[in-house]
Amino acid sequence: MAPPFIGTQSGSINNSWKENYADVDWDNLGFRLTTTDYMYIMKCSMKENFSRGHLTNYGNIGISPSAGVLNYGQGLFEGLKAYRKPDGRIQLFRPEHNALRMQAGARRLRMPSPSVEQFVESVKQVVLANKRWVPPHGKGSLYLRPLLMGSGSVLGIGPAPEYTFLILASPIGNFYKGRESLNLLIERDLHRAGPGGTGGIKSITNYSGVYETVAEAKAKGFSDVLFLDAVSGKYIEEVSSCNIFILKDNVISTPATHGTILPGVTRKSIIKLASDMGYQVEERNVPLEDLLNADEVFCTGTAMVVTPVASMTYIYTRVEYKTGNETVTHKLHATLTGIQTGVIEDKLGWTLPI
Ligand code: COI
Repeated sequence: MAPPFIGTQSGSINNSWKENYADVDWDNLGFRLTTTDYMYIMKCSMKENFSRGHLTNYGNIGISPSAGVLNYGQGLFEGLKAYRKPDGRIQLFRPEHNALRMQAGARRLRMPSPSVEQFVESVKQVVLANKRWVPPHGKGSLYLRPLLMGSGSVLGIGPAPEYTFLILASPIGNFYKGRESLNLLIERDLHRAGPGGTGGIKSITNYSGVYETVAEAKAKGFSDVLFLDAVSGKYIEEVSSCNIFILKDNVISTPATHGTILPGVTRKSIIKLASDMGYQVEERNVPLEDLLNADEVFCTGTAMVVTPVASMTYIYTRVEYKTGNETVTHKLHATLTGIQTGVIEDKLGWTLPI
């Protein structure tokens, strides 16, 4: 069926809906980069605040080989999405939380950061400029990737003299395309984050450290890897790029954010939705035994939304969990995505029309 008309509502039937959309195979979107028309860029020096940014054509950016981000990893990223509602209008989901998380990370990495208003306004500009790349309702979303980096030159270790804030966009579909649920491997020896480290901010350096571990697990047929705490190895922490929840009876638990866990916007939203549905939600240290005894397990993140876990493998033990349409995981997924895509009324004020 043709997606709804997204131009001026004139009363006449518009059969040329494709003219309002980019030439994309909307039925086969995965989580991969499709470049769009415009990106947003804003620069400032160490001593200034960000003030004037602009849209520009998507393309390579010139950067000094001595840039702080290239040499010392002084960089953060964010991820959020624009969704098309059934009537074709577009909305964002809690973008101010991404702005606040970027500010917290920027303090830690000693970078200036955009104000919440600047962040949200620039996201809106990118979405509007790339409107034809926002997938039709039900086909996916426009993923926004804000970056904040030390773009000025440095040699000695320390904050860069210049900073760049940039937002690029890409239409995306399912993160784990073709997989309705995940088979995770629990890693015993390597850790994603340690106490006092940067696991709790969205530093660009938090992700590639587990590439080898994840690649090895995928080569063995697993979907992804779950990491344990670096001190005792007894508590669950995060999957390579998403938060984790377990359900036992009426209780939903997720690792508490004590610095090694990313405070996910989806995580926070699921905690609220599950509490409102009457579940007891606990943010706590979650021992491995609780995970292995759970009824349901699911991962959350902007990219993976709410993805059920079908099995967990720890050394030679493999446990399976309930999945499918009758699960709490399914109910939470449906409620969250219903609000995000405008199918369910947003009584919590989480969505922002563009
Ligand atoms: C997101 O969910 O937006 C993330 O940041 C995960 C990303 C590494 C794909």
